[in-house]
Amino acid sequence: MDLRTKACNIFDLREMALARVPRGPFQFMDRGTEEEISLRNNREVFDRIRFKPRTFVDVSKRTSETTIFGVKHKMPLVIAPTGTAGLLWYEGEIALARAARAAGIPFSLATGSMTAMERVADEAGGELWFQLYLWPDRSMSHELVNRARAAGYKALIVTVDGSSAGNREYNIRNGFTLPFTLSTKTAIDMLRHPRWLLGVMGRYMVTTGMPMYQNYPAAAKARMTKGPMGRSSLRTDSIKWEDLDALRKIWPHKLIVKGMLDPHDAAEAVNHGADGIDVSNHGGRNLDGIISPMEVLPEIVDAVGKRATVFVDSGFRRGSDVVKAVALGAQAVMVGRATLYGVAAAGEAGAARALEIFHEEIRRNMALLGVNTIAELGPQYLKFVDTTLRPRGTRAQLRAVDDARAVAEA
Ligand SMILES: Cc1cc2nc3c(=O)[nH]c(=O)nc-3n(C[C@H](O)[C@H](O)[C@H](O)COP(=O)(O)O)c2cc1C
Repeated sequence: MDLRTKACNIFDLREMALARVPRGPFQFMDRGTEEEISLRNNREVFDRIRFKPRTFVDVSKRTSETTIFGVKHKMPLVIAPTGTAGLLWYEGEIALARAARAAGIPFSLATGSMTAMERVADEAGGELWFQLYLWPDRSMSHELVNRARAAGYKALIVTVDGSSAGNREYNIRNGFTLPFTLSTKTAIDMLRHPRWLLGVMGRYMVTTGMPMYQNYPAAAKARMTKGPMGRSSLRTDSIKWEDLDALRKIWPHKLIVKGMLDPHDAAEAVNHGADGIDVSNHGGRNLDGIISPMEVLPEIVDAVGKRATVFVDSGFRRGSDVVKAVALGAQAVMVGRATLYGVAAAGEAGAARALEIFHEEIRRNMALLGVNTIAELGPQYLKFVDTTLRPRGTRAQLRAVDDARAVAEA
C-alpha cells in the first residue's frame, strides 16, 4: 500500500482509520462531548485567522527545525499523550514513539496507555515525555513519576483539566468499556472489522491478554471497575497548587502543565515551578462549549513571557494550523488525533505518514509565506478576520517590524 497516494492529508488517514477500527474505539478517539461545540470550534477557529505573506524572499534554504527545552527538533510538533493508541493498533504506543523518533520530534506517553512506559523506552527510545493524571491517592501518582524518571523520560506533563470525565454519551451507546465488554452489539462491531479483530485484539489475546492500563500500579488496577471508556480510569477532583509543588520537588526534569486556558492560572503555574504550559481544551473531549486554545494563546504567551515554554493543542490537522499557532507565540504544537488516525490506519507507517504530512505542509507554508526559519514567524504574517483573536500589541509589533524593514532598506 502506497500511503503517499492513499493519504494525501490527515483527513484521508481518518477515513482509513474509520474503515479499519470498530465503531466503539473509533468514536472514542474521534468524537467530542455533548453537542460537540468545542470539537467544531477547535477547527473553525483556524478559518478566522488568515495568512499575509511576503514576496521577494529567497526561501530555498528554509528549515522547520526548532529548539524545545534546549533540544533541537525537526519541526515544532510533539505527539500529545493519548491513552488509546494501543487499542487502535497492537502496541500502538511503541509504533507512535518510533514514528516520532524517526521524524525527530518528542513523543508523550499517557498514564492511561496500554503499553508500559519501560517497554516504550526500551523498544522505541527517542525523546520521551510522560503524562500524569493525579489520582485520589497521590502516592500512586508519585510512584509513576519515579518510574518515568528511572525509565529515562525527559519531561513530565501533568494534566489538570480532567477533574471529571467528559460526557461521552456515545461510549455508553456503543457499549465501549475497558476492559472490553462482549455483547451482541460489540461482537458484531468487532466482526465487521476483521483486520482490527485479528491484528489488534487477536494479537493481544495470544500474547498479554485483554488490553489494559499497563502503567497503573497493581493497587490501581485492583481498584478499577469496568465502566464506559474514559470513565473507568481513576480521577481526582481535588487538585490544588500544592500538588504541583509536590511534583516539582520529586521531578528533576522539565515540568509541563497541560490543560490551561486562563492566563492567570498559567502565570501561577510558572510561579509554582512549571517549565511549560500546554494551552489545551483536551481536543474538545471534556467541557463542551469551552473556548479554543487559539482564542487565548496570545494572552497566555503574554502572561508567562519568557519564563516558560508555551505549547498548544486541540484541533490541529494541517501544517498551516501549526504555522498559525507558532506565529501567535507557541513554541510547538501537540497533536493527538492526527497521529492516532495514522497509527489506526497503518501502524508505525501510518503515524510516520501523518508526521510526514505535517512536515511537508509546514515547509510548504513557510515557503509560500516567505519565511526561512520558525523563529521568524510572528503575528505580522497573520490577518485576523475575527479581531478578538488578534494578540494585544500586534499593531505595535507590526509597526516595529515595518520600521525595522524601512531602516534595513534605506
Ligand atoms: C483518544 C484520546 C485520548 C486522550 N487521552 C489523553 C490522556 O490520557 N491524557 C491527556 O492528558 N490527554 C489525553 N488526550 C488529549 C490529548 O492529549 C490532546 O490534548 C488532544 O488530543 C488534542 O486535540 P486533537 O486530538 O484535536 O489534536 C486524549 C485525546 C484523545 C483523542
